[in-house]
Amino acid sequence: MIISLCDDPQDVADLAAQRVADLLHDSPRAVLGLPTGRTPILMYDLLAEQHAEGTLDFSQVSTYNLDEFVGIGEDHPGSYRAYMRRYLFDRVNLTSGEGHVLDGLAADPDAECARFEEAIDAAGGIDLMILGLGANGHIGFNEPADSLQARTHRVRLLEPSRQANAGFFGGDPAQVPAEAMTMGMGTILKARRILLLVTGAEKASTVGAMINGPVTPQLPASFLQLHRHVELICDTEAASALR
Ligand code: GLP
Repeated sequence: MIISLCDDPQDVADLAAQRVADLLHDSPRAVLGLPTGRTPILMYDLLAEQHAEGTLDFSQVSTYNLDEFVGIGEDHPGSYRAYMRRYLFDRVNLTSGEGHVLDGLAADPDAECARFEEAIDAAGGIDLMILGLGANGHIGFNEPADSLQARTHRVRLLEPSRQANAGFFGGDPAQVPAEAMTMGMGTILKARRILLLVTGAEKASTVGAMINGPVTPQLPASFLQLHRHVELICDTEAASALR
């Protein structure tokens, strides 16, 4: 794993946006895997800025989001599709239908997960998967557990994840859907390249365990040790437990 150490969250965003821009300049038809959460917002702002300046074109790009809540649709401000519209989709020239997010209102979530997995394969796989890190070590919504599921699947959310996502649900974790759908760690590890963005002291111990500890389903992020092309872009606070 390559570790790119940055001074602060803005520098993390600058470098991440640079990586995306470099890829899109080289491969205008690139397939991106995208995260939600607070961490990537500054990166999305920069990508939107570059697009507004005319230096970044998304017209041939397709994107696949990591995860989505079950039971809410894009009309709900807490849905990840609403997030993606707010921070990226409505700000760049992605072709309609090429910003793929799991459908939280699908009548059959298991079938929706299978459809999504097939759509990624049909697109030729993900060129660059951008990830955030849950404070509890989750990636997407692959929660710490005794075992992990490889492919896109339905998952019951753990309490810390519901708390971390309460912002768009009136600050009340009980209002956060109990279930989500997420790419599996196998889906994620199939990406040709992975960028992991981490900021803040509250994730430092998780970053330390992810890099120096064993590969274990109790810390899903540790599975990133198995991939050949992962770049961790983190600020000094998040890196403070690394030795
Ligand atoms: C959320 C998402 C993850 C995201 C993570 C970190 O629950 N499901 O995909 O990477 O938690 O979020 P944040 O960047 O806000 O810390």
